[in-house]
Amino acid sequence: MSEQNLFKVTIDNITIEVPAGTTVLQAARLIGGQVAPPAMCFYSKLQGSGGKCRTCLVEVSKGSEKDPRPMPKLVASCRTTVMDGMEVKNITSEKVIDARAGVVEFLLLNHPLDCPICDQAGECHLQDLSFEHGKSETRYEFQRRTFKKHDLGKNIQLHMTRCILCYRCVFTADQLTNKRVHGILDRGDHAEIATHIEKSLDNEFIGNVIDVCPVGALTDKTFRFKNRVWFLKPMDAHRDCPTCSGRVTLWNRGDEVYRVTARKDQWGEVEDTPDGKPGWICNTCRFDKKETADWIIEGPREISRQSVIAQGHYAGKIGTTKPNETFAAINDGRKPHLLMDIHDESEVNQPNIHLGKIQGPSHGDTFNTNNTHKA
Ligand code: SF4
Ligand code: FES
Repeated sequence: MSEQNLFKVTIDNITIEVPAGTTVLQAARLIGGQVAPPAMCFYSKLQGSGGKCRTCLVEVSKGSEKDPRPMPKLVASCRTTVMDGMEVKNITSEKVIDARAGVVEFLLLNHPLDCPICDQAGECHLQDLSFEHGKSETRYEFQRRTFKKHDLGKNIQLHMTRCILCYRCVFTADQLTNKRVHGILDRGDHAEIATHIEKSLDNEFIGNVIDVCPVGALTDKTFRFKNRVWFLKPMDAHRDCPTCSGRVTLWNRGDEVYRVTARKDQWGEVEDTPDGKPGWICNTCRFDKKETADWIIEGPREISRQSVIAQGHYAGKIGTTKPNETFAAINDGRKPHLLMDIHDESEVNQPNIHLGKIQGPSHGDTFNTNNTHKA
């Protein structure tokens, strides 16, 4: 068996040995934490991804042991492979921090300030980037781009103004489905995600474009405007699915399943299944299995303490046990007889209506006595 050729690379003063052919980004991810540059377009599970967004720029201060000259410009770490003896600066380089702030400003030129109403808020990579590197005001004086609306079908909502043209959804459709019907049309600032002649994206695996989109350009219509991710409790669950691995994360509130997604790792990418393949999930698991009874619950998903999603923690295993505290227990034995029951006063918030199961956002009709979306 031939010995693997290992290269030594030092990133932000931390040295690691990686196999030849590893990119600087992947080597930095092996070190982890802040050393790993942000990546808006690279996605390790998608062949050919990367090289589009420039958020992963790093400074190569020493090219290699054989040729120690620094690289003259910052390079995209997702597309640059390591050389033996290479030295790289990410957060330790002022040039990188400055360039990243410029890239974020550029990405935000046309991006709307939609966070308060965007379903991606709380798990949006651009939101994180803006928080870390963004400026509080824009220097852009022109009108932001607008687009003709394209309907991508009953499950996927496109908000083109939020798209950063990372191509991840295009690679996903290319590599997971047998016929891609959407792509990036036109060029320059006319470039947009579209299907050319209105078509729905309806392949059984096309829902994965929602999971790979780093911003809120592609969102789940069955979850739209129903809840905020930080109010939901992510639970790992699985089912015996004939089409996909059936390993998912359920996003619950109480017993209600609001959303189903693939399981994601710390880099926001789809996790591998135990047999080492990417855990892409099918549309049936994602859009149609919205009952706790459809799933075998494994337990709460671990969420980084830094994530806003971790704020929505509450005790009890969702769907299996009820919280122990009662109103009386936390109010010195007082019963809630002085309080109004909201359901007597208002037609909204009816407990027998499962918001996770209605199509699209809820509105007045949802709560009419005759509605058909009740649990
Ligand atoms: S829709 Fe999302 S995944 Fe597709 S190119 Fe735009 S930002 Fe990337
Ligand atoms: S992640 Fe490297 S260019 Fe986008």
